[in-house]
Amino acid sequence: MIKNFGVIGYPLGHSFSPDYFAKKFKRENLTHCTYKAFPIRDINELLQLISDHHLSGVNVTIPYKEKVLPLLYETDETAKRVGAVNCIRVTEGRLYGFNTDVWGFTQSILPLLAEVEKENPMALILGTGGASKAVLESFRLLNIECATVSRGKEGNYLYSNLNKNILHSYDIIVNTTPLGMSPDIESCPEIPYEYLKNTHFLIDLIYNPKKTVFLTKGLQHHCTIKNGSDMLVYQAEKSWEIWNQK
Ligand SMILES: NC(=O)c1ccc[n+]([C@@H]2O[C@H](COP(=O)([O-])OP(=O)(O)OC[C@H]3O[C@@H](n4cnc5c(N)ncnc54)[C@H](OP(=O)(O)O)[C@@H]3O)[C@@H](O)[C@H]2O)c1
Repeated sequence: MIKNFGVIGYPLGHSFSPDYFAKKFKRENLTHCTYKAFPIRDINELLQLISDHHLSGVNVTIPYKEKVLPLLYETDETAKRVGAVNCIRVTEGRLYGFNTDVWGFTQSILPLLAEVEKENPMALILGTGGASKAVLESFRLLNIECATVSRGKEGNYLYSNLNKNILHSYDIIVNTTPLGMSPDIESCPEIPYEYLKNTHFLIDLIYNPKKTVFLTKGLQHHCTIKNGSDMLVYQAEKSWEIWNQK
């Protein structure tokens, strides 16, 4: 039986998933599966879309990860905690929501964490959007204490407040802002890079380009770096696993 999947978002020109799943289906000889990009202008088009295209599973990306919540029959614990869904399974016409970004991020950084020498490392997260919330949940599960940096939201560090003391209190710094993402590849978060040390771990969720200015500056200070490519693959594979669960 043909099984159809897809990704919704707007716009979707940059989406990684259709290409990833096309290659996967070819490699694994899954000739009965299709995966398409559906750039919808309104989240309320989703139910009709699922019905018209007989979709069994959907990935959700910007700007619908939160807007999709009211349309779901049930969301799993992780998605509830994060407040965002990036994977939907359709079972008997009902929509079940999951968040596989948390899994993806966690899996992608485990090898890196094995290299951290400090017993209780602390993480500084740049940005407070959907990806930041997934990263926060991942660190909560890993028992790693965190703080966030925002351009202005209360309860976070401000970029202008970051200094040597603060930067040296954290071992891991994660960029969850879109700064540095193609085509705007010259930009980077405004942190005082001069205080980075070779014991810092810099993680960027961006995967295009592979080495952002944020990571390049980290390398200049001999930090260990990691981009978002592995996270992307892990979250996609977790979606696949969820869609195929009985
Ligand atoms: N590798 C992966 O698998 C993966 C998965 C998910 C997301 N991502 C990437 O993560 C990034 C963020 O995604 P998202 O869904 O979290 O986006 P989002 O919800 O728009 O949030 C981004 C956050 O970054 C901050 N920000 C936005 N524009 C900024 C600017 N010009 N200067 C400084 N800070 C800015 C904002 O926080 P404040 O307002 O508090 O400053 C905002 O809430 C994107 O590049 C996305 O591609 C990668």
